[in-house]
Amino acid sequence: KRGGTDQQKRRAAERAVTAVSSGMVVGLGTGSTAGFAIDKLGERVDDGLEITGIATSYQSRQRAREAGIPLVTLEDATPDIAIDGADQIAGTTLIKGGGAAHAREKVVDSAADRLLIVADPTKETETLDHPVPVEVLPDARPTVSRRLGDLGGEPTLRSAERKDGPVVTDNGNLVVDCSFGEIEEPAALARQLSQLPGVVEHGLFVGLADEIYIGTADGVVHRTE
Ligand code: A5P
Repeated sequence: KRGGTDQQKRRAAERAVTAVSSGMVVGLGTGSTAGFAIDKLGERVDDGLEITGIATSYQSRQRAREAGIPLVTLEDATPDIAIDGADQIAGTTLIKGGGAAHAREKVVDSAADRLLIVADPTKETETLDHPVPVEVLPDARPTVSRRLGDLGGEPTLRSAERKDGPVVTDNGNLVVDCSFGEIEEPAALARQLSQLPGVVEHGLFVGLADEIYIGTADGVVHRTE
């Protein structure tokens, strides 16, 4: 559990789920907040909602299975809508990847016609300053870390709490969390990171989110682009 309360997260998630209707293919995000959306979608499936889901991680696939949501892959369908969480939100620009799932999340989220982000108020900020998760091919870790330093970042290899050694992603890669201080130009940084050989994907999501749902103690604040 990170950030805000479960009540705030659940409120945001359950409101976003009202945008889903029968016949849709739904991208299923990763993390605790997106997990509440998966649970609610499962309840609605029990009540007759006809959807298929596309998972963004091992975790979201398992949670969707438990919730009874039929799953397909990007081979079979393109998502009409995706509901996902975020680690930090400035306007509609995001930092994701706190759960190391940002590569598949970005593929699924960007394929969707609409991306809905669900979060609690602790995620919102004026200027992004969270370290940017960068998924790297294991062999490229040293060269990518040097290049990240050249770009003004401070890279740290993500280690696992309950394993000796680094976090290994669902794709078999490593994650370098790179602090850039305040990120004044996220679009420019995103382009620079994408250009580094060995970078599989980074956690800056620029121009992807269509709607933001923030759960609060009183209700839900809903913002569009
Ligand atoms: C997964 O890698 C992330 O992109 C998550 O979407 C993000 O960490 C949000 O998780 P919480 O909803 O648990 O904060």
